[in-house]
Amino acid sequence: MSRIEIDTLGKSFDGKRVLHDISLTLAPGRSLALIGPTAAGKTVLLKCLVGLYAPDRGSIKIDGADAGSADMRAETLNDRIGMLFQQNALFDSLSVWENIGFRLMARGETRVGARARAEELLPQVGLPVETADLFPADLSGGMQKRVGFARAIATAPDILLLDNPTAGLDPILAARVDAMISSLARKNGATVISATGNMVGLTDAYDDIAVLHDGALRWHGPADAAQKADNPWLRQLLSGSRTGPIQTMSPIETMSIEA
Ligand SMILES: Nc1ncnc2c1ncn2[C@@H]1O[C@H](COP(=O)(O)OP(=O)(O)O)[C@@H](O)[C@H]1O
Ligand SMILES: [Mg+2]
Repeated sequence: MSRIEIDTLGKSFDGKRVLHDISLTLAPGRSLALIGPTAAGKTVLLKCLVGLYAPDRGSIKIDGADAGSADMRAETLNDRIGMLFQQNALFDSLSVWENIGFRLMARGETRVGARARAEELLPQVGLPVETADLFPADLSGGMQKRVGFARAIATAPDILLLDNPTAGLDPILAARVDAMISSLARKNGATVISATGNMVGLTDAYDDIAVLHDGALRWHGPADAAQKADNPWLRQLLSGSRTGPIQTMSPIETMSIEA
């Protein structure tokens, strides 16, 4: 059975269609890189999956059960899904270990137990244990990402949703973070969807790739087929070319440069 099954999903805001007819399935333990230009709909899709947005059409099933049902929503949000938000969403007033242990404590874990779990996770995400007592403001962007990632995996979720886990990192660090995500996910047997703008090492780090543009799925397949696939959206994203179906600038920006 598929761990995640998205069927003809649609979502609009104020009459503007943001996701259109998205159908996608993911087997347990597989990792998917969701790629696409800015405003493609990647974040909205992840927020539909975690239950923050209700789809207008279609359905999302997790292990065959409708994710929109009341029972499932509470369960998925609290237990099954770990999410790293685009802006990390760390709590400024909590220390690193409190950020990582936050959901564990919300579930009834003691402070001592939550701290121990945080200290176990820090080296796994490449941070020294001494980081535990620092605050988010003390950390670089890359370190904050790692803390956000440690928090996302603290409860050992079945499903990990990662929104731009490598945004703002240099390409070498970004490739390391992507590799770390896939190896930790494999170790924990988690199913991963990662909206990523980092194309370096992408096809090594993830099992599958899905291309989103203007709210529609343009390509979906195994990462090892992506290099050879004859798909203009995929080609343009992987090569970073300015020519192709994805316009890199809005007409207004183009006009002001030409003027
Ligand atoms: N809450 C919202 N209300 C209205 N429009 C939204 C909302 N969230 C996202 N959008 C719009 O949906 C489109 C897709 O956004 P998003 O999923 O954030 O793109 P991506 O993550 O691929 O950069 C954008 O045009 C964005 O402006
Ligand atoms: Mg986004």
